[in-house]
Amino acid sequence: AGPCDIYSSGGTPCVAAHSTTRALYSAFSGALYQVIRASDSATTTIAPLSAGGVANAAAQDSFCAGTTCLISIIYDQSGRGNHLTQAPPGGFDGPDVNGYDNLASATGAPVTLNGQKAYGVFISPGTGYRNNAVSGTATGDAAEGMYAILDGTHYNGACCFDYGNAETSSHDTGNGHMEAIYFGDSTAWGSGSGSGPWVMADLENGLFSGSGSGLNSADPSVSYRFLTTIIKGEPNQWAIRGGNAASGSLSTYYSGIRPTASGYNPMSKEGAIILGIGGDNSNGAQGTFYEGVMTSGYPSDATENSVQANIVAAKYATTSLTSGTAFTVGSHVSLRATTSGYTTRYIAHTGATVNTQVVTSSSTTALKQQASWTVVTGLGNSACFSFESVDTPGSYLRHYNFVLVLNADDGTKQFFEDATFCPQAGLSGTGSSIRSWSYPTRYFRHYTNLLYVASDGGVDTFDATASFIDDVSWAVSTGFA
Ligand code: AHR
Ligand code: AHR
Ligand code: AHR
Repeated sequence: AGPCDIYSSGGTPCVAAHSTTRALYSAFSGALYQVIRASDSATTTIAPLSAGGVANAAAQDSFCAGTTCLISIIYDQSGRGNHLTQAPPGGFDGPDVNGYDNLASATGAPVTLNGQKAYGVFISPGTGYRNNAVSGTATGDAAEGMYAILDGTHYNGACCFDYGNAETSSHDTGNGHMEAIYFGDSTAWGSGSGSGPWVMADLENGLFSGSGSGLNSADPSVSYRFLTTIIKGEPNQWAIRGGNAASGSLSTYYSGIRPTASGYNPMSKEGAIILGIGGDNSNGAQGTFYEGVMTSGYPSDATENSVQANIVAAKYATTSLTSGTAFTVGSHVSLRATTSGYTTRYIAHTGATVNTQVVTSSSTTALKQQASWTVVTGLGNSACFSFESVDTPGSYLRHYNFVLVLNADDGTKQFFEDATFCPQAGLSGTGSSIRSWSYPTRYFRHYTNLLYVASDGGVDTFDATASFIDDVSWAVSTGFA
């Protein structure tokens, strides 16, 4: 059985079921998600390998070979048509064309399920999915449940990495107009014990960790790499539950009455579905989503415990974030452009500015050092790498406003993440493409001989499609210095 078969047996059927990694019903063999590729804007759908099975990641890999792909639709497996697509502007605009949010990279969150490769949905700030024209989700004070499997190590404190029930207008229409899972370390509204991250309920104008606003210490900090999160609500009753999605059982972090602040009892749920954003399209948060559902009716703890057993049996595990030429920690590298007309130029820096410069074996020692980088373990993720300047130890390549710069390590989580890159086999078929860990749609790209983290066909000038694939493909060699 799949999670939604279990919810059905419990009398609380799924009314929305989303996953890019696997079928959530044992009989489901339809489309899980759609990807769109940059090279020709063609789309394809990815289905399970067999009914009830894991997504056919190999089909995605072959469709996306030599280009980049985005997840354009996450299909609803419940049959109600509650698909998630690129979120529109609301109270806040997104960064993409016409105020839409960005779509997620199709390759930002690789995992295995029982040893078979699949891809989750890696939400960078600015990314979001939504459905404002839903069927069958809870409205008003009606009962509902939901769970989501997330990466407990990928989060931030911005508003709001959510999955669940929100406003159909994409605007903040008042307290009690949402009921969604929140995950992150925002302390703007509520918090739990420790320094976070926490699973909380986004009920609109408040992230709740218990019945009171602010701190509820029974809600623990949780950061399992694969994290099961649960929120459920019915008249004057709701609960937060969670656990390790790779082993063991669920714990109940809160179960009790609705918040006493005004507007949350009764609730005024509207039934739209959001992923990665707040109800008003606040889009500063980050996180990773693998699968999740919404139910009609308030699921019993026993039903959810069976769903957790199903999740554990799916055996989520990590897999490599890199491919192509191996990078060795401690080695010095130089990176040469491969775009025709620029092949004598290497990634170098002039102070904080990162550029390409012509470097040869007879260049000055100073220039050779400016074009050489020490490979270190990724400051923000040890499965990837950071690049420390050979002539300015303690300073690393990092992106800021998507411009690549050389900055001194300031010890912040933001810096660590901005300075972490996951090399891939070169998109052009030559060398390596150096992907940003935190914005996996983006790669080291030279544009007018300056360095950016660019996405193919994005909104900035440096995202231009012309020569993108060559501009992001670098020949890697032993460092000049
Ligand atoms: O409740 C927290 C956030 O407040 C909601 O997600 C958003 O709509 C509002 O800004
Ligand atoms: O480069 C994009 C973002 O710009 C970085 O993550 C952040 O440090 C800055 O605001
Ligand atoms: O960086 C040099 C060139 O500038 C790039 O190849 C091109 O994309 C841009 O015009």
